[in-house]
Amino acid sequence: MDHVVNAYNRSEASIVRGEGVYLFDKDGKKYLDFAAGISTTSLGHCHPYITDKLKEQLDSLWHCSNIFTIPQQERLAQRLTELTFADKVFFCSSGLEATEAAIKFIRRYFYLNGQEKRSHIITIEGGFHGRSIAAISAGGNEKSREGFAPLLSGFDKVPRNNIEALEKKINSETAAIFLEPIQSEGGVHPLDVEYLKKVREITKAQGIILCFDEVQCGYGRIGSLFYYQNIGVEPDMLTCAKAMGNGFPLAACLVKGYIAEAITPGTHGSTYGGNPLAMTVGNAVLDVMLKEGFFDHVKKVSKYLKEKLLPLTEEFPKIVSEVRGEGLLIGIELRVPLADKIVKQSLDKGLIMTKILNNRVIRITPPLVVENMHVNAVCDIFHDLFFYIKDI
Ligand SMILES: Cc1ncc(COP(=O)(O)O)c(C=O)c1O
Repeated sequence: MDHVVNAYNRSEASIVRGEGVYLFDKDGKKYLDFAAGISTTSLGHCHPYITDKLKEQLDSLWHCSNIFTIPQQERLAQRLTELTFADKVFFCSSGLEATEAAIKFIRRYFYLNGQEKRSHIITIEGGFHGRSIAAISAGGNEKSREGFAPLLSGFDKVPRNNIEALEKKINSETAAIFLEPIQSEGGVHPLDVEYLKKVREITKAQGIILCFDEVQCGYGRIGSLFYYQNIGVEPDMLTCAKAMGNGFPLAACLVKGYIAEAITPGTHGSTYGGNPLAMTVGNAVLDVMLKEGFFDHVKKVSKYLKEKLLPLTEEFPKIVSEVRGEGLLIGIELRVPLADKIVKQSLDKGLIMTKILNNRVIRITPPLVVENMHVNAVCDIFHDLFFYIKDI
């Protein structure tokens, strides 16, 4: 690792193979993967159907550029628009590019409508939208911004779940509200559904665009294709990535037609966005997720996971202060800053999880195909570790 930029806290474990919910390191050690590449390999590693589709595509065409019509892209866009509120889709390769697209689409829409001054976007404290300059300017995490000035202006931050603060912040320059309906990097905080409903009402009444970042909570994790569909609050735009490609770089910005009209050739683009390989994977992922019973399984196993984890606050009141989250996006908040140690000890025991929020929260984002027996195995490890916490 001497020659790799030190941008990540890496474990020494060297992962060489994945199969379903398991990863294997170079020494053959098996790990139960409850991180899923951070909400990414939702269908499990090397899903045979997706792998076969990708192999087929590898033999026919990798890349041809968006100067041509790409049939797989047309198909995925059509499917996503039929399944959602959106009329159009812009494809790219990562969550932050979807953030960039959203910001540009919003600004250009108001620009073309003679409201150039309406360029400000309200975002929520604790939110995370990626690591480009625009994305950290939009994000609500001080630490990710430190040392990168000058940042982009035009992002107004408000606290979570506070309607009065939001109403006060809105002014004649407000173009949009951009938020994660469930903040993940910020500590796994689902925003109150009543709050989100009110945000929708206000934005509708004032002609403000509402954009949801579902990069992490979308694509099946909460038991429907997108989280907004669970809570009945429909945005005007939505960004997604991660599970959309099950590990293949693929992301998108879904958008209502009237906003998409602002984007014409030359105003935005991406070399790799929507290329035949990515689109083949994207269609294959949807084929699997849309099979009858898939989301029911996610709902059932999520319920079981919550039932098994919630008692931790009573069983270990000195260690666990809260278990929160929705679906298969769960945070376990600790009273003691030991998340790092617990995650490392779990890794030794063959369980992969992540820690967030200053060492205070253990996050679990398993593949959506986990079964109750995997949940049981994880809970056993938690019991072991918490029981001996004084020793770790
Ligand atoms: C909610 C959210 N938005 C955007 C991003 C950025 O995605 P990427 O890392 O693919 O650029 C992330 C990444 O973790 C995320 O969690």
